Amino acid sequence: MFLIASDHGGLDLKEHIKAYLKERGIEVRDLGTDNGDSVDYPDFGERVGKAISIGEAEKGILICGTGIGMSIVANKFPGVRAALIWDEFTARMSKEHNNANVVVMGGRTLSEEKAERMVGIWLDSKFEGGRHQKRLDKISQIEDDIRAGRL
Ligand code: RB5
Repeated sequence: MFLIASDHGGLDLKEHIKAYLKERGIEVRDLGTDNGDSVDYPDFGERVGKAISIGEAEKGILICGTGIGMSIVANKFPGVRAALIWDEFTARMSKEHNNANVVVMGGRTLSEEKAERMVGIWLDSKFEGGRHQKRLDKISQIEDDIRAGRL
């Protein structure tokens, strides 16, 4: 299951990306927001971050004005590797090196066409594993240490 959410700053781009995912045959669940009223991005970042963290979904996309706030929120959740991507290169790296399970974009910083290309690259790229897996294991260790009160 694929999740997507935005605040008001990311609403238009979210609609575009949803249509793109559907075109690719990817089932996507929209966790809001659903209109242009001003809302607080942590409320929507939490929905996706929590669902991924507890294993209810495998992948997600978050969009706010810049992508910054949503990144901060999503990365609070253990097991979430949320990558703020801004071009084709960072989209590819977010999968090949970081195995990002959430990508975050700025609705006010990207054109629809570019964002769509970036999502496609993220979906089509492969995690390289090897030395990058070792680094992800270190991130998991940090999460474990925080949970156990060692950090
Ligand atoms: C909302 O105005 C804006 O602050 C939000 O969309 C986001 O850019 C926060 O990081």
